[in-house]
Amino acid sequence: MARNDRDLPKTKLNKESMRRALRIFGFIGKTDKWLFALGTLFLVLTAITALLFPELIGRMVDSYTSLEKLKNAANGFLYLFIAQAVFSFLRIGLYVRIAENLTYALRKRLYKAVLLQNMDFFHQNRTGDLLSRFTADIGQIQDSFSSNLAMFLRQVLVIVGGVVYLFIKSPTMAMYMLATVPIVVIVSLFFGRYIRKISRQVQDMTGSNTVIAEETISGIQNVKAFTNEDFELNRYGSDVENLRRKSIYRGLLRGAFSSFIIVCLFGSIVWLIFMGLGMVQSGEIQMGEMFSFMLYTAFVGGSIGGLAEQFVQIQKTIGAVERVLDLIDKPTEEIEISAAEKPLSNGLQFQHVSFSYPSRPGFEVIKNMSFDIAPGTSLAVVGPSGAGKSTLVNLIYRFYSPNSGRILMGGRDISETDLYSLRRGLALVPQEIMLFGGSIAENIRYGNPDANDEQVKEAAVKANAHDFISAFPEGYKTIVGDRGIRLSGGQRQRIAIARAILRDPDLLILDEATSSLDTESEQQVQAALATLMKNRTSIIIAHRLSTIRHADKIIVMRSGSIAETGTHDELMKIENGLYRRMVEKQLEPEDFFSNPE
Ligand SMILES: Nc1ncnc2c1ncn2[C@@H]1O[C@H](COP(=O)(O)OP(=O)(O)OP(=O)(O)O)[C@@H](O)[C@H]1O
Ligand SMILES: [Mg+2]
Repeated sequence: MARNDRDLPKTKLNKESMRRALRIFGFIGKTDKWLFALGTLFLVLTAITALLFPELIGRMVDSYTSLEKLKNAANGFLYLFIAQAVFSFLRIGLYVRIAENLTYALRKRLYKAVLLQNMDFFHQNRTGDLLSRFTADIGQIQDSFSSNLAMFLRQVLVIVGGVVYLFIKSPTMAMYMLATVPIVVIVSLFFGRYIRKISRQVQDMTGSNTVIAEETISGIQNVKAFTNEDFELNRYGSDVENLRRKSIYRGLLRGAFSSFIIVCLFGSIVWLIFMGLGMVQSGEIQMGEMFSFMLYTAFVGGSIGGLAEQFVQIQKTIGAVERVLDLIDKPTEEIEISAAEKPLSNGLQFQHVSFSYPSRPGFEVIKNMSFDIAPGTSLAVVGPSGAGKSTLVNLIYRFYSPNSGRILMGGRDISETDLYSLRRGLALVPQEIMLFGGSIAENIRYGNPDANDEQVKEAAVKANAHDFISAFPEGYKTIVGDRGIRLSGGQRQRIAIARAILRDPDLLILDEATSSLDTESEQQVQAALATLMKNRTSIIIAHRLSTIRHADKIIVMRSGSIAETGTHDELMKIENGLYRRMVEKQLEPEDFFSNPE
């Protein structure tokens, strides 16, 4: 039951939604389609064997007069059970196989579809939502194929078969049954659903209640400082009062429900037995038939009840299929992983580039920027927070495309090149360094998965990371990331630099972390950077004076445009220039730009 508690929305069943949902069968392989048909055959057979059960019980009851007949009837059960066991084993085996193959195919396709989306997609979609495609939606589809569909079909067969059987045996009894059981079952279904709805409301209220208390207690200093104890007490009090009322209502409903079951369901059973026994007495039917009647009635009633639940599950599955397939069908970034085009060669040019993020079209983050970096030289970009420095990186990587203007690498417009070739020639040491759950060696190797242990070590040495890595008892095998040890900011940066060294890029981009490092870390990082940048085209988004000073060229950025540009010496000559003032006051960019005067 727990798996059915997924709070997935239901989808209305209509021709259109069915048509879309049926596309899921396209993900079932040819062999599996045949196996699915075979499984369905076994499912029909299990339904038939199930339907034979009440009939055999009836015969057994009627054969109570002779031991010989009784033995025969008992043997009948033996065959029936063996047949049912075999059919049901085969059905489940086949369906599970198909469901798992389908899930496997869906997971892989979906993962690929997600990974190949452009960066804007990841900014627009929350991680949790994306993950629930993999867990909740695919889980729902998996359940449906391994059991819900089969149960649904089986219940339909049992209802149809049971009712037909009843009519053949005794139309009168069949009418009696139909007049009571389905109605009681359906009414109780709706009743039950209503109670569940109220229960959910009670749960939600309990939740919101806890949130109020949690907020208040964790912010108790504010509450007390403002002497708002009374206010908080009232806020909590009225919420709890609502909860009390709702809970009592739910209790009453539950009571009414059990009274309803006692009176109507048990009542109708007794009434059916009463009518049946009357017919036995008048010789219209036999005692055994009366028994099988009651059992069929129970089967049909139970199946009607179950059908409703399966129906809800199938509606949810249709929604899940749509959500998963929509994502799978979504156009991806034009990246050809296997592209053999040569990486772009050196040098970078921005020509009148303007850009605003799709989520904020009215706000120009980059305004008509033009600059170039000669091959093998370095460019430092400084400017206040929010000036658009990291956005430049997004544009170079083609995570986003400019609204106007061109970006050239090695003389070629990057928008006309293959994404794979473009990105293969770049290495980024980002502002926020992410280490994957895994060993340090694996994290460095992320820069170039083909590198061997020797190359990894070499990169770490160049990045000034070898010493601190070797100091760990497990060295390069030390696990980092969520479940591993935490590295300091400077250590993480040096791992990221080692990664970039291993990649050996044509263009190196460094988005310096804003958080300041202690002097020793700082020196080590600087030395590592110097190695990495030597004779390499590089862009450094700098948050430290020490980094900027060594650059071949400096751009001072302000709200998306270039305020000043030149070498250190050139910028120092500008009377009252931003850069000159920053250097003269010996202020780090962060401090200078947050308070320039
Ligand atoms: N994905 C995005 N969608 C919409 N707006 C964005 C997005 N990323 C950044 N921005 C906006 O673009 C502007 C420039 O951001 P950017 O990250 O380039 O600044 P930055 O110069 O790197 O700042 P910092 O020094 O703090 O890293 C900011 O106003 C920011 O709010
Ligand atoms: Mg930034």
